[in-house]
Amino acid sequence: MLELRQITRAYELGGERAGVFAVSLEVPKGCLAVLAGPSGSGKTTLLQLAGLLDVPDEGEVRLDGEAVSALSEKARCDLRLRKLGFVFQAFNLVPVLSALENVMLPLQLQGVTDEEARRRAGSALERVGLADRRHHRPDQLSGGQQQRAAIARALAPDPLLVLADEPTASLDHAHGGPLMDLMAELAQERGVTFLVASHDPSVISRAHRVFRLRDGKLIGEEVAR
Ligand SMILES: Nc1ncnc2c1ncn2[C@@H]1O[C@H](COP(=O)(O)OP(=O)(O)OP(=O)(O)O)[C@@H](O)[C@H]1O
Ligand SMILES: [Mg+2]
Repeated sequence: MLELRQITRAYELGGERAGVFAVSLEVPKGCLAVLAGPSGSGKTTLLQLAGLLDVPDEGEVRLDGEAVSALSEKARCDLRLRKLGFVFQAFNLVPVLSALENVMLPLQLQGVTDEEARRRAGSALERVGLADRRHHRPDQLSGGQQQRAAIARALAPDPLLVLADEPTASLDHAHGGPLMDLMAELAQERGVTFLVASHDPSVISRAHRVFRLRDGKLIGEEVAR
């Protein structure tokens, strides 16, 4: 589903070279994959490349067999809107909108009618257990609930791939585990592929596949039985 082939993205800063170097990895459809590694190991850099927010210096990002990193900016933007979902550490919900309106937003950007967007957003919120909180604004939701709303927003457009950068970092331990259980269930039940950057053990323990990074290089890969 997602394939990174010999990806290099180097940053030169004050004579120091950082980034990611010659990383190759494959994530099958319906897999919850985690990029693990210490701070500065290249997790966010890889996630941005896989999310088509950045392009590699060398190598290829392939989605469903297509080399997408070589596409024009416009085509990548289009793919992002249609095929990818994003979940960030700090939730990134629009503060003045209700949970329902937040989840409707990417659908409306795709040109889905308001009525259809409302229906699909409602069902996504129901799936993440927030049906009764649909009219709450983000500041009226707990951190765990905001992150569930962010997952509903990422999923409502029916993406192929959802990218999440440290999704549990702003949550306490009691909420991180259940959030990852939800992602693992969604991966299995809908065949959505997840790529999550994290050094949180409660995230790594729920992964179907773990890619270990250090100093921008892939140093190991574990597949859960
Ligand atoms: N825009 C940039 N300019 C220069 N160097 C950068 C830039 N972005 C990242 N780097 C460097 O690339 C390396 C990898 O950074 P990255 O953000 O991918 O790490 P990370 O694994 O996500 O770390 P963390 O766990 O702290 O989020 C680091 O050494 C970082 O300083
Ligand atoms: Mg990071």
